[in-house]
Amino acid sequence: MTRLPDPRPRPPAGAALVDTYGRVAQDLRVSVTDRCSFRCTYCMPAEGLPWIPRAEMLTDDELLRLVAVFVSAGVTQVRLTGGEPLLRRSIVDLVAGIGELRPRPSIAMTTNGAGLARVAAGLKAAGLDRVNVSLDTIDTEQFRTLTRRDRLTDVIEGLAAAADAGLTPVKVNAVAMRGVNDDAVIDLLSWCLERGYELRFIEQMPLDAQHGWERSVMVTADEIRARLATRFTLSPAPWGDRGSAPAQRFLVDGGPATVGIIASVSAPFCSACDRVRLTADGQVRNCLFSERETDLRGPLRDGASDDDLLALIRGEMWRKGPAHGIGRPDFHQPDRPMSAIGG
Ligand code: 5AD
Ligand code: SF4
Repeated sequence: MTRLPDPRPRPPAGAALVDTYGRVAQDLRVSVTDRCSFRCTYCMPAEGLPWIPRAEMLTDDELLRLVAVFVSAGVTQVRLTGGEPLLRRSIVDLVAGIGELRPRPSIAMTTNGAGLARVAAGLKAAGLDRVNVSLDTIDTEQFRTLTRRDRLTDVIEGLAAAADAGLTPVKVNAVAMRGVNDDAVIDLLSWCLERGYELRFIEQMPLDAQHGWERSVMVTADEIRARLATRFTLSPAPWGDRGSAPAQRFLVDGGPATVGIIASVSAPFCSACDRVRLTADGQVRNCLFSERETDLRGPLRDGASDDDLLALIRGEMWRKGPAHGIGRPDFHQPDRPMSAIGG
């Protein structure tokens, strides 16, 4: 049988990060390190993981060069993630470097919050706009079980410092685990409401290094909503269509406070995805669940021009699939865990 040539083997002319489904990537997630100070059970084993060797990590200059190429291709928001991004010693300088790009992207960070009290003001001064802090429970024992670390107080102080520094709106991300912290979602929401933090629950995704995820155990968005509804009145936020923002937001007791519920598994938002990811070792990924990635570090170190790098990035985006496919018989969990891809 003769194979027909692929009618669209290459992305069209231009710089934008388009894919074959008409989506345009504008939100770049950069994992600045795969290391972490916590060992959340749904993420990594107690002993940690084989970390990316130093020599394979992008240097600050390399990382900033690549972010600049993404910005030249229409990226308007950069989110720094990990692992735990605050473990990268140069993190304040990286934020400052990204803040010098033009057009200046908005700069956000997803952090476990444990080191935030010390650097929140410095990050703000360097140009960080917002933070999302991962906090799954405000019960000390549950926190210790979930993160395998006794650092709830540090996270609480980190959140307060972020709010004081004006890294607002301060958002809190929570994953509910059955039999661990799913009975504490009401307390967590009450606690966040009292402090003006915007809480969002995220369904647990099959991205753990241990490959232990099971759909039947996952606490669903519907379950979270039903549980919250026993205490609060939730009404769909009036600003309607959630667009590319994955959280479905609800007004709590008539508002103005809201709670978000991100049904990444039970109601995927892939068709509106505007994300692209860069790993700490310089691989571009078109999806959290992608089974492939394109190396930028090698070409960069071999002297590639910005145009060469842009062509590699656009080629990777052009291969982006329609959806993550969790639940399909042919779904494979990616080899890299979440901590090495970036949230
Ligand atoms: N599913 C959903 N969220 C996860 N996170 C880490 N692992 C998973 C997973 N398997 C969350 C963290 C953090 C963000 C980066 O992603 O709690 O909030
Ligand atoms: Fe660290 Fe985040 Fe993984 Fe927890 S979920 S171990 S805070 S990278």
